[in-house]
Amino acid sequence: MSKTAGFFDSGIGGLPYLKYMREKAPYYCYKYIADSENFPYGVKSRDAILDIVLDIIGRFIKQENPSIIVIACNTASVIALEKLRNTYDIPFVGVVPAIKPAANISKKRRIGLFATNRTVNDAYTENLISSYANGCEVFRYADPDIVSFIETSFFDSDENTIMNSVRPAVDYFIDKKVDNIILGCTHFLYLDKYFRKMIPSSISIIDSREGVSNQALKVMDSAPETDRENCSDSFFVTSEDDSAENYRFFSDYFNLKYSGKLPK
Ligand code: DGL
Repeated sequence: MSKTAGFFDSGIGGLPYLKYMREKAPYYCYKYIADSENFPYGVKSRDAILDIVLDIIGRFIKQENPSIIVIACNTASVIALEKLRNTYDIPFVGVVPAIKPAANISKKRRIGLFATNRTVNDAYTENLISSYANGCEVFRYADPDIVSFIETSFFDSDENTIMNSVRPAVDYFIDKKVDNIILGCTHFLYLDKYFRKMIPSSISIIDSREGVSNQALKVMDSAPETDRENCSDSFFVTSEDDSAENYRFFSDYFNLKYSGKLPK
C-alpha cells in the first residue's frame, strides 16, 4: 500500500510542483487540492488565509491520512506554514520565494520578485530577504489579474494574449536591470516559457521546484513503484460551479482523477 503525498494550492498553481515531485518519487500516491472556493488568496488578509488553510488542510488530513503535505502555494506558505506545523503532526514542506538561490547567483545584486500582493508585502518575505539576500536590492512586482488569467483562461489563450498579459511585468524587471527573476507565485510557473522568450538570456528565471522536491524527498520513504497498485492520483476542489469544467481539464492534463469536492 503506497503512502500519500498531498499537494495544496488556491487553484492550479501547485500542479507543476506535483508533476515534478511525481517524477522523482513515483511510488507515492498523489492527491491534489485546489481551493476553488476561496481563490484567489493573494488579495486576502493574513487572518483570512490562515483560517482557510487550517480548515482545508484539517479536512484533507482527516480524509486522506497523508504522510506528507506540500503547501504548493507561496502565499499560503508564507502565512500558514508555521501554524500548520504546530497544529498537525505530519511533515509539511512549503513553497516560498526562492530568495536564497537568487541571491547566490546574482552578480548585479539586483533581483526581481514576481509574486502575489500578499507575498511581496508579507513580513515573512522581508525576513527571507534580510536573512539570505543581504546587499541585494529586491524589486517586487505583483499582479492579481495575471493570477486570475492563468487560473481561468491560460489554456484557452493564444501566445500573443499570454505575452501581452505578461508584458508589463517583463518591462518592469528589465527596466530595473535585475539579473534574475524569481517566480514567487506557483501560478507563474506556467509563464516560464513566455518569460524566457521575452527577456534577454542574461536574466535567469528561478522557481522553487528543485529546493522543494529535495526537501520533500528527505521525508518521503522510498519504495517500489508496485506499491501504487491500489492508488489513484486524485484532484479535489473545494467548490463546484461553472469552473468545474476548467478543473476537470487540469486534472486530465496532469493525469489525475477528478474527484469533486473535498468533504466538509
Ligand atoms: N498560487 C499562489 C501562490 O503561489 C497564489 C495565487 C492566489 O491565489 O492569489 O502564491
